Amino acid sequence: RILILDYGSQVTQLIARRVREAGAYCEIHPGDVSDEFIRSQEGLKGIILSGSHASVYADDALQVPAAVFEAGVPVLGICYGMQAMARQLGGVTEGSDKREFGYAEVRAHGHTKLLDGIQDFATAEGHGMLKVWMSHGDKVTALPPGFKLMASTPTCPIAGMADEDRGFYAVQFHPEVTHTVQGAALFQRFVRDICGCVGDWNMPDYVEEAIANIREQVGDEEVILALSGGVDSSVAAALIHQAIGDKLTCVFVDHGLLRLNEAEQVMRTFADNMGLKIIHIDASDRFLGKLAGVTDPEAKRKIIGREFVEIFQEEAAKLSNARWLAQGTIYPDVIESAAAKSGKATGIKSHHNVGGLPETLNLKLLEPLRELFKDEVRKLGVALGLPPAMVYRHPFPGPGLGVRILGEIKREYADLLRQADAIFIEELRNTVDEETGKNWYDLTSQAFTVFLPVKSVGVMGDARTYEYVVAMRAVQTTDFMTADWAELPYSLLKRTSGRIINEVRGINRVTYDVSSKPPATIEWE
Ligand code: XMP
Repeated sequence: RILILDYGSQVTQLIARRVREAGAYCEIHPGDVSDEFIRSQEGLKGIILSGSHASVYADDALQVPAAVFEAGVPVLGICYGMQAMARQLGGVTEGSDKREFGYAEVRAHGHTKLLDGIQDFATAEGHGMLKVWMSHGDKVTALPPGFKLMASTPTCPIAGMADEDRGFYAVQFHPEVTHTVQGAALFQRFVRDICGCVGDWNMPDYVEEAIANIREQVGDEEVILALSGGVDSSVAAALIHQAIGDKLTCVFVDHGLLRLNEAEQVMRTFADNMGLKIIHIDASDRFLGKLAGVTDPEAKRKIIGREFVEIFQEEAAKLSNARWLAQGTIYPDVIESAAAKSGKATGIKSHHNVGGLPETLNLKLLEPLRELFKDEVRKLGVALGLPPAMVYRHPFPGPGLGVRILGEIKREYADLLRQADAIFIEELRNTVDEETGKNWYDLTSQAFTVFLPVKSVGVMGDARTYEYVVAMRAVQTTDFMTADWAELPYSLLKRTSGRIINEVRGINRVTYDVSSKPPATIEWE
């Protein structure tokens, strides 16, 4: 195992992700664990010291436990981790108000096991160069005894150092972020070649560990979970069920704004096929009743969010033995809510599923996916036996069709939209792009139809029609913060619009949304 000591960097989880990618098991612990804790680690192969937002000169700057440097395993210090290593082993660091932040090119010096043969390009003199991401104020100005220079930049003459006899390596830049092009290679080198991990740790191993952790955490107590059918809550449910079986009860609230046959699918997958205990609440009347006459998007979101919490609480209250509330919180949610708390969130749209269920339930929180990124959650889902089509589904907003029906929500609108949406998704799945061999559902990040409560004139047979409009929306994005509209083939658009107009009574016009985000958003509300 690799131990990661966290000194408060926002990207410590990325270190863990890189170590997992290199095929090794790792755990993150606070940077000020005791020396005994370090000594008690069984099977320890290496230690990584994270960066920090703090300065090594800050009053509350954490010291690296002395046992780290006496454990007899390789140590990799990153940014703050490098400075702390330098200071504690007899080098010199210097504080600075000026921060160096962003892209940098680092020159590798001499031969070290960590950087040997890893480079992005070579200078005319033949020096290996790395394209990296830097973010620091303080820096190391004199090497500790026994260390040699490993890397430098013009503004940071000691950007990397190593004492290879003891297996100590340190870099001032951040190899864990994707902007450092060779980051993954560096972690592979450290984890496999330097620490000697064989690199055979994988998702099935993670499942076993996660199951053991859940059992240890909850013991004999009972757990409830709000299952939405989305990837995160589905994977969390499947995982917890494998750990504790019937001690998990899922509550699935159908707010009447789900996609076509979605409730049936969720029940079939989880209750019938996997044997989960699920309370299925058909609350569409209740939601639609509360939403009647409401047109403002944020007001609709609030009502849906509030009603959902209320219903969940009512059900939770009936399960008097439940002591735990499980949530499918994944790592980006943890970051997002931390940003929201620190006032950095912009509040352009309120996403009610971030922030979660109320504390008044008096339940302890169980969040088994907290350390994972989305793609890791998907791999975990597949390892748990969930259908790949469910695990690789496009995201679907918590308020569902509620934000895809513009203005007031009516059951009639939702029924029309559901049919149109199902046709669009079916056509996307069935149309294969010849160049890539992939279907258009997989080539887009999110695709759906939007209901416009306006009527336009059409003609069908000999008769004039006067019916509603739907818009198709398909975007490509990596982070959903910015997005491009997808250049779907005309033939696909044509087939889909033809089918929607012919098959969905009540819709006689279909448009395609060609707006990027920004300035538009992905959803229409
Ligand atoms: P926007 O429309 O803000 O969407 O560009 C970005 C991503 O967020 C999803 N989204 C939501 N998800 N509750 C959610 O759970 C919401 O209220 C909500 N609004 C937008 C949207 O589907 C897209 O993936």
